[in-house]
Amino acid sequence: MRLLDVRDLTLHFKVKEGWVHAVEDVNFTLESGETLGLVGESGCGKTTLGYGISQLLPDNAHVKAGQVIFKGEDILTPSLKKNGTLKPYRQEIRELRWKEISMIFQGAMNAFNPVQKVGDQIIEAIKVHSDVTRQEAVARVEELYKLIGIPKDRIDNYPHEYSGGMRQRAMIAMALVHNPSLIIADEPTTALDVIMQRRILSEIKKIQNEFHMTMIIITHDVSVVANVADKIAVMYAGRIMEYGNIKDVFKRTANPYTKALFGGFPSLKGEKKRIASIPGNPPSLVEPPTGCRFHPRCKFAKEICKTEKPPFITLPTGQQSLCHFANEVQQGGMA
Ligand SMILES: Nc1ncnc2c1ncn2[C@@H]1O[C@H](COP(=O)(O)OP(=O)(O)OP(=O)(O)O)[C@@H](O)[C@H]1O
Ligand SMILES: [Mg+2]
Repeated sequence: MRLLDVRDLTLHFKVKEGWVHAVEDVNFTLESGETLGLVGESGCGKTTLGYGISQLLPDNAHVKAGQVIFKGEDILTPSLKKNGTLKPYRQEIRELRWKEISMIFQGAMNAFNPVQKVGDQIIEAIKVHSDVTRQEAVARVEELYKLIGIPKDRIDNYPHEYSGGMRQRAMIAMALVHNPSLIIADEPTTALDVIMQRRILSEIKKIQNEFHMTMIIITHDVSVVANVADKIAVMYAGRIMEYGNIKDVFKRTANPYTKALFGGFPSLKGEKKRIASIPGNPPSLVEPPTGCRFHPRCKFAKEICKTEKPPFITLPTGQQSLCHFANEVQQGGMA
């Protein structure tokens, strides 16, 4: 079943200097049970896209175009005013957000209230949106702790008594309280050491398998994507540059930005590998470059790249690449 269909989504932020073009023309779909890895350098719009899907955009965000179709219904348009600014969230959207789509926030492990026991905070989240007794809520927390691998005698601890990894896992538990159909995990492992990252990834995989969970995992870490994702979307300066099944994108990369980011062809074996650092800086999103937004840093750039926005080219391998020369890049002809 198609769970999510993001169409032509364009999200801008109003700032003093004008508009930040944070997300432009984003398209992707997710079938129930699939995982999408969303990667790209800092500031390319990953979190904004996650917020757009989970209806958490701040007040200065404007939806310029597009739809977010979740379980067959456009969940974005009903929350818009005619001029494109966001209305206060409607109740059903709020419910949807908790029960159907939940987000594990970037840096979330520091989001617990330090003076309240972790278990009580999760119980509160359960009770706000469902009519259960405290006993039932406690039973749910115990079940979730078992799932994420924290001993249940830790439920009554305060956040500072948890390690960083435990806090992060408790946040994952929090996101799971209402069995959402879609989880958006924004950098769930970034702040952790390698051993803890592995543990959390294996918990995430376990949860995916047990609950047939659909996920968007936002990360800087290529090995995370290789380990858990079915599909990948590579973002640059607000646009998706390459999108497709993980094997196709990893093995037959068809976009210069993906190549630069992964340092050539990445390995699917999943050894830890941060994204490569690419010479130059990402552009200002207030005045993004004309043509292809990557052209000032692209070693394959030609004249046309400076002036004309590239089309999304569907490669014979099935993935899509936003590049005038996608076929040549895939065949290695321009290297
Ligand atoms: N509320 C806001 N108002 C104005 N600009 C914003 C706002 N939130 C984000 N931005 C800008 O939008 C762009 C995309 O930001 P976003 O946080 O989505 O990037 P990201 O890919 O998640 O980065 P990171 O990897 O560092 O988390 C950036 O240029 C950022 O400065
Ligand atoms: Mg972010």
